[in-house]
Amino acid sequence: MSTKTVKINSIYDYKKLLEPAESLKNGDLVAFPTETVYGLGANALLSDTVKKVFEAKGRPSDNPLIVHVSSVEDVERIAKNIPPEADKIFKNLCPGPITVVLFKKDIVPDEVTAGGKTVAVRIPESEIARELIKLSGVPVAAPSANTSGRPSPTKAEHVLEDLKDKVEYIIDGGECRVGIESTVVDLTVSPPRILRPGGVSHETLSELLGEVTGYAPCDSDENAPKSPGMKYKHYAPKGKMTVFEGKNCRSELVKAIENDKKTVVLSSGELILDSATVINCGKTPEEYSKNLFNALRRADEMGAECILAELPFSSGGITTALKNRIYKSAGGNVVLCK
Ligand code: TXA
Ligand code: MG
Repeated sequence: MSTKTVKINSIYDYKKLLEPAESLKNGDLVAFPTETVYGLGANALLSDTVKKVFEAKGRPSDNPLIVHVSSVEDVERIAKNIPPEADKIFKNLCPGPITVVLFKKDIVPDEVTAGGKTVAVRIPESEIARELIKLSGVPVAAPSANTSGRPSPTKAEHVLEDLKDKVEYIIDGGECRVGIESTVVDLTVSPPRILRPGGVSHETLSELLGEVTGYAPCDSDENAPKSPGMKYKHYAPKGKMTVFEGKNCRSELVKAIENDKKTVVLSSGELILDSATVINCGKTPEEYSKNLFNALRRADEMGAECILAELPFSSGGITTALKNRIYKSAGGNVVLCK
C-alpha cells in the first residue's frame, strides 16, 4: 500500500474527505488530526480492521482503544447505562480533549476494548476529525498515530515518519492545538476517576462533577492499572533524557551539560548556548505541551545523546498532564531544583 496524504486548509477542502471517509468505513486505516494529537483511525465495528491498528503500531493487544464519534447522539450507539456525569461532560466540555469510560454495548468488538466491559468514548474538538467521522457514518477507533513507545504525533509529518505505507490515507490538518492527549476519566466508578491526565484538568472536572479521584500512577487497590496504556514505556526519545524541574532550574541544567556529548536542551523561553542545541518549547505550560512531542522527535533526528528538559512550571491546569508525559519520556529521570 502506498500512503496518500490529503491536505485540508479550510472548510472548502472538506470534499476531499469523502474518499478517505469511504475508505475508513470499508476497513482501511486513515490517520487524521485532532486537537490533541493525530489519531490512527479504523472502523470500530470491524474486528479485523481493528486488529490492523495494533499491527501497524506494534501495540500490545491488552491496551484498549478510544472510540471517536462526531456527536453526543452517536455515543448511545456504543455505550449503555450512561450516567448523569457523562451528560454534564458532553454538555459542558465536548467537543474537546476529554475521553469518558462507559459500559459498552455488544456492538463494540472485544478487539477495541481488550475484552473489557467498558469502552472509552471521545468527541474531538477538531472539525476535520468530526467531519471525517460523520462522513464515514461509523464510530472510529483511534489510538495516537505513532509507533508504540514513540512520542505521539502532533503534525502529519510525524505520522508519515512512523506509519508510511501502513495506512491508506493521512489527513493533514496542520499542527495540533493542545499537543498532548485527552484526559481519560472513568465514569463506571463512583466518584469518577481520572485514568490519564490530559487536555482537561482535574480542577475543571471537579468544578463540574464534584468529587473526582485524581490520577494515580499505579492504583494501590488493584494490581493492574485501570488504563492499561499508562503502564507501558512511552514517548521515549532515543537519547538519555533528564528533566530539570523547579522555578530556577535553568542554572543546574546548564551545569549538567557534558561537552563531549551531543546535547539538545528543551528550554522554556529563549536560551542561547554554545555547548548544546536549544529547542525553545515556550514560556507557558500550554505552549510547552503543544511543542513537547515535536521537540523530542527533532532531538532524535539530530542524533542527540543527551536531552535536558527545563521544566519551571509548578502544578495545576495542563501542567499535571505535561509533567506526566515529560516524566515518562525521561523514564522518571528527574532532578528537582530549588
Ligand atoms: O487525545 C487522545 O485521546 C488521542 C486522540 C487520537 O484522540 N488518542 C489516544 O489514544 O491517546 P491512545 O490509544 O494512544 O491512548 C488511549 C488511552 C490508553 O492509555 C488506554 O489504555 C486508555 O486510553 N483506554 C482506552 N480504552 C479504555 C477503557 N475502556 N478503560 C480504561 N482505559 C482505556
Ligand atoms: Mg498513545
